[in-house]
Amino acid sequence: MPLSSKHLLGLYSMPVEDINLILDTAVTFKEILERPIKKVPTLKGITVVNLFFENSTRTRLSFELAEKRLSADTLNFSKVGSSVQKGETFKDTVRNICSMKVDMIVIRHESPGAPQYLTRITDAKVINAGDGRHEHPTQALLDIFSIKEKLGKVEGLRVCIVGDIAHSRVALSNIFALTKLGAKVSVCGPKTMIPLFIENFGVKVYHNINKAIAENDVLNVLRIQLEREAGGSIPALREYREYFGINNERIEKNNPNVLILHPGPINRGVELSSEVADGPYQIILDQVTNGVAVRMAILYLLGTQN
Ligand code: CP
Repeated sequence: MPLSSKHLLGLYSMPVEDINLILDTAVTFKEILERPIKKVPTLKGITVVNLFFENSTRTRLSFELAEKRLSADTLNFSKVGSSVQKGETFKDTVRNICSMKVDMIVIRHESPGAPQYLTRITDAKVINAGDGRHEHPTQALLDIFSIKEKLGKVEGLRVCIVGDIAHSRVALSNIFALTKLGAKVSVCGPKTMIPLFIENFGVKVYHNINKAIAENDVLNVLRIQLEREAGGSIPALREYREYFGINNERIEKNNPNVLILHPGPINRGVELSSEVADGPYQIILDQVTNGVAVRMAILYLLGTQN
């Protein structure tokens, strides 16, 4: 069964059947990744370029590994060190790369809508690896895969996204997909970090972290995005940690069964204490492991359809 689109631009408009197809396919790839020989010939002859205009560790390496595990030919582009720094435009950069006969593009860009724009100027299949504050669909899919793997389901679970919702593409993609899958989604943070009218997406709003911990099965904790001017939304990081930081004491007092996720990178000692980041309540590195399987599933489903 193919996906309904030849691109993966976001989860807002993705049918729930497509989300389930990706999650189910990722289970198969996770099994392959646990074998002694982790490589399959599925995308032999397909060329994928990872086009990263913004910094990344997890997403970029995870895509590159997923492509290699599927036997695709992989090219890596970073804005730093490229001719963009000599003044070449985004459009010229992409058109030059596509002239090398690229089949798929994985793009991270600071501008919301950059992946959509790419679909208008190339024939390649496009995967959004994070566009500004808009969406980070593959992160949300790997978060949901990890929740499902750990708790056995998503439907009916109470999932709270904590932190800097206003500057987060991970929050939006999670909200769109989790609500489609029947989870009860909420957000928690200071008023300055919660977008107005977010309730219109069907989410509950908390401003009290203890209550959010007590009333939810899962907390997906976000990083304070200092590079997106989030620092202006709170008086001080110390104050954020005091009111919203998650530590063992808060978890043990309010809900020792809560499951903690974090997309990374972590600001240790701000949104999560180190004891939580490395402790028994979290599955942060499982998320990273699962990211390879989920991205293999997406590359396979898009790469093998017409
Ligand atoms: N979670 C995530 O997108 O991390 P990177 O910025 O390191 O890719």
